[in-house]
Amino acid sequence: MTTAFIAGATGYTGRSVVTSCLARGITTVAHVRPDSSRLDSWTSTFEGQGATVDSSPWTPEGMAAAMRRHQPDFVFALLGTTAKRGKTDGGSYETVDYGLSVLLLGAAATVEPWPCFVYLSSTGADGPAINAYMKARVRVEKAIVDLGINHLIARPSFISGDDRDENRPAERVGATVVDGFLNTLSAVGLKGPRAKYGSITGAQLAEALVKLSTEGSRGVVEAAGLQAAAT
Ligand SMILES: NC(=O)c1ccc[n+]([C@@H]2O[C@H](COP(=O)([O-])OP(=O)(O)OC[C@H]3O[C@@H](n4cnc5c(N)ncnc54)[C@H](OP(=O)(O)O)[C@@H]3O)[C@@H](O)[C@H]2O)c1
Repeated sequence: MTTAFIAGATGYTGRSVVTSCLARGITTVAHVRPDSSRLDSWTSTFEGQGATVDSSPWTPEGMAAAMRRHQPDFVFALLGTTAKRGKTDGGSYETVDYGLSVLLLGAAATVEPWPCFVYLSSTGADGPAINAYMKARVRVEKAIVDLGINHLIARPSFISGDDRDENRPAERVGATVVDGFLNTLSAVGLKGPRAKYGSITGAQLAEALVKLSTEGSRGVVEAAGLQAAAT
């Protein structure tokens, strides 16, 4: 029996990772933060789908206890805040994108044998860390590699789709403009840039993450590899 623990299960990508894991018959644990204003509704949604809900606190002890309880084979780290969200809940790229991801990594390393750590990073995380968002990704990737845990690091381009419930106009417009341009290039035979920089929906990305990780892919997968695995 394979077990997956999904942190960030309530996010655009995370909720589809829950669905993709369940569709493969994986015992699926969806983490919902205990202070979530939607804890009850997420619990009924995920339990209705057949997942187990864990609402352990975001502390090293709380997460290590969750790992002991569930003994996951795969731990998905799909967490992230935005500058806008941080203004209301106080989170930042430093405390959420970096802090919670490495807290989860530390907890995952308490499981024997170590699970595979699946981390949702971003395209460009192998380049210069030009801002706090990218710095967080570079540092989490380094922490994973330095630890030596089995891992799959995914570096998608835009994660976007009509089914995203949070209004992110800048991201949506960015994805639409970039996709339009890349489709034009693709139509004249230049397909590489679309594979590298084109947007991916949460459901497609989730399918790629679950498929690649459970079928044994390890290391880093760039946007083109995610697009290919999703189709
Ligand atoms: N969007 C893009 O184009 C793009 C591209 C490349 C990489 N990424 C990265 O991919 C990751 C996932 O993206 P996504 O679009 O699926 O994310 P999303 O929909 O914004 O979901 C983020 C998840 O992080 C959790 N979270 C946020 N702040 C938190 C806090 N203070 N404490 C605990 N949990 C918190 C959310 O929980 P709640 O629901 O409880 O708030 C949610 O489960 C993020 O790191 C993102 O930056 C995004």
